[in-house]
Amino acid sequence: MCSSRKRGPLLAAALLAMATADFAGAAEPGHFGYGSVATAEQIAGWDIDVRGEDGAGLPPGKGTVDRGAEVYAEQCAACHGTFGEGEGRFPKLAGGAGSLRDERPEPTVGSYWPFAPTLWDYINRAMPMATPHTLSADDVYALTAYILSLNDLVPNEFVADRTSLPKVKMRNRDSFTWTDPRPDTKSKPCMNDCADAAGVKISSTAEGKNLTPRTTGPLDAMQPK
Ligand code: HEC
Repeated sequence: MCSSRKRGPLLAAALLAMATADFAGAAEPGHFGYGSVATAEQIAGWDIDVRGEDGAGLPPGKGTVDRGAEVYAEQCAACHGTFGEGEGRFPKLAGGAGSLRDERPEPTVGSYWPFAPTLWDYINRAMPMATPHTLSADDVYALTAYILSLNDLVPNEFVADRTSLPKVKMRNRDSFTWTDPRPDTKSKPCMNDCADAAGVKISSTAEGKNLTPRTTGPLDAMQPK
């Protein structure tokens, strides 16, 4: 049987030969000669994250509670209920205020979420469930305003936009812990003037100690014996 140790370099050499033959001369320094540079428009299509705390990344646009109620009735109510009460097993979007310490806590946008801009971000990237990325920025703002109003977090005349959303005080805002208490998260990766790798001595390894559980699937058959 051909050992994988031999096959690796051979395959790599073959690929390299193909690459140099097919693309000789096409490669710019630092590139591999295929693909193309992403356009600003393509990057903008992926770069959609919004920071919860201060709303950084929220786009221009705005939406009212009333407009949100219309879009919501058409696109969301079937699953989340007209007033965010949730249909069947689909999640509730409203209610649950003060329930987080109960035996049966009800985490919703109103009772649990710490930041209003995160609601914009979530709807924008994930909803409606079957057809995400189909809503305009204005409609996402309107839906955000409507869901916040269902939770009595904003008045009916509230207009959601990139400046008003970060100012909404969410009920659970101050109950999150922002520092990670696990001890190993404190160590900082070394970026310069680091220990000389040649001088580092390995004092112990996990090898042979049976620490890593084996899989039960085909991967086991591929492990070196
Ligand atoms: C086909 C059913 C369906 C439709 C329609 C739908 N959703 Fe959802 N929604 C879900 C499901 C299922 C989840 C839970 C997803 C998960 O946890 O991964 C969810 C989660 C959410 C959440 C997060 C809830 C939480 O607290 O974690 C929000 C907010 C939300 N949807 C808003 C909307 C809005 C706004 C619309 C309309 C534009 C919409 N959804 C349309 C099924 C739906």
